[in-house]
Amino acid sequence: MTKIAYLTIDGTVYELPMFEGSEGERAIDITQLRSLSGCITYDPGFANTGSCRSAITFVDGEKGILRYRGYPIEQIAAQGSFIETAMLLIFGHLPSKEERSCFRELLGGQELLHEGLRHHFEGFPSKGDPMAILSAVINSLGCYHPELVDIENEEEFTMAAAKIISKVRTIAAWAYRKSKGLPFMYPNPALSYCRNFLHMMFSIPNRFHEPSQEAVRALTLFFILHADHEQNCSCSTVRMVGSTQASLFASVSAGICALWGRLHGGANAGVIRMLHRIRDGQMSIPTVIEKVKNREMRLMGFGHRIYKNYDPRAKILKQAAHELLEKMGRHDELLDIALNLAAAAMADDYFAERKLYPNVDFYSGLILRALNIPVNMFPVMFAIGRMPGWIAHWYEDHQNPTLRIHRPRQIYIGEPKRDYIPMEERGIIDG
Ligand code: ACO
Repeated sequence: MTKIAYLTIDGTVYELPMFEGSEGERAIDITQLRSLSGCITYDPGFANTGSCRSAITFVDGEKGILRYRGYPIEQIAAQGSFIETAMLLIFGHLPSKEERSCFRELLGGQELLHEGLRHHFEGFPSKGDPMAILSAVINSLGCYHPELVDIENEEEFTMAAAKIISKVRTIAAWAYRKSKGLPFMYPNPALSYCRNFLHMMFSIPNRFHEPSQEAVRALTLFFILHADHEQNCSCSTVRMVGSTQASLFASVSAGICALWGRLHGGANAGVIRMLHRIRDGQMSIPTVIEKVKNREMRLMGFGHRIYKNYDPRAKILKQAAHELLEKMGRHDELLDIALNLAAAAMADDYFAERKLYPNVDFYSGLILRALNIPVNMFPVMFAIGRMPGWIAHWYEDHQNPTLRIHRPRQIYIGEPKRDYIPMEERGIIDG
């Protein structure tokens, strides 16, 4: 039986239908509210707004739960591969051996960039931010595959998805090589997804880069844990752009831009820069905590819109950072600083009262550092990992016959109507 929420405005009672998600989350359907009452809801930051019904990822921020298509992130992280995870998110089920090898083969055939696209890299300055390059080149992919700009069936979608997931590695690695003035390394189809990426990042023509098994596993884990996180800012951006019927290339390119900011995917680089400052004696841990409490800075890698408990991804990455460094026989003083900083923050009432815990970005940079990935590439690494999630969400909307263009309303607070003043009659603005 449909439950009803009652809303009274100026003495009139409006009945609003309610519905429940498969995990018991309750929602009030306000789609008819404005036409019935003339009122809209006001929710800046969209913290109380469900923008869609989605069957891809479930997060319970109070309990610290994350599941992709129903599978707990801890199980996928312990046993899955990145390609399997991507397929699970995009196609909705864990692939069979045959399905996985077919998709791997498809990805293998798509890893090269058109030579015309390679020339785009020459136009970027060497100091250009790799996120700008990634977004621009992913968007430009659409120019090289016009047949995939308007996707009409599953086959075309699968091809576009494979192109993006495969080429994003090549583009990311080449953005790095460009910044270093190093020659571009072409992908090697004999290598696995992560090995191939590390090869394009670090091999040089006369020296092949052979990463350790631990390094490959750590990178796989990093990508798996970043693969999706339901309606965050970048995913919502992808869905919003996609709602205009823009192409998959354009939509995920917009997602990269949204991810870039310090409050979202740029936080992983912010954490490492903050830890550097502590290591270099520019700030002590108590000073950081004081500055955060005085609102002079934010503790990067802490806090989350949804998690009011430990982010399960941070838990896994913290353990993985320890294990990776141990297996590599390396010690990273930044890990010690991070552990001390997290302990100091969590013992402080400011953080406890606001339920601020380490998020995915707090420990992820320590893994990337151990893999010799430079700090300005950290958000790019996040984007590679997040690509399957963005693609899955774009497709979920694309397949929805009732999808409407995303178009929020506003409450206008500007000037009321006034008459245009011709230039010669305007006073001189002193300033
Ligand atoms: N450091 C200090 N205070 C914080 C932090 C933080 N990292 N995060 C939240 N707070 C405080 C706010 O000042 C606010 O306090 P108040 O109620 O006294 O004003 C309260 O906690 C709630 O914070 P909001 O900003 O309202 O929380 P919101 O959900 O809007 O923001 C966000 C979430 C952006 C992640 C925030 O926690 C933040 O800035 N964190 C640091 C950046 C970061 O790590 N981003 C990565 C997030 S994970 C991801 O995108 C992959």
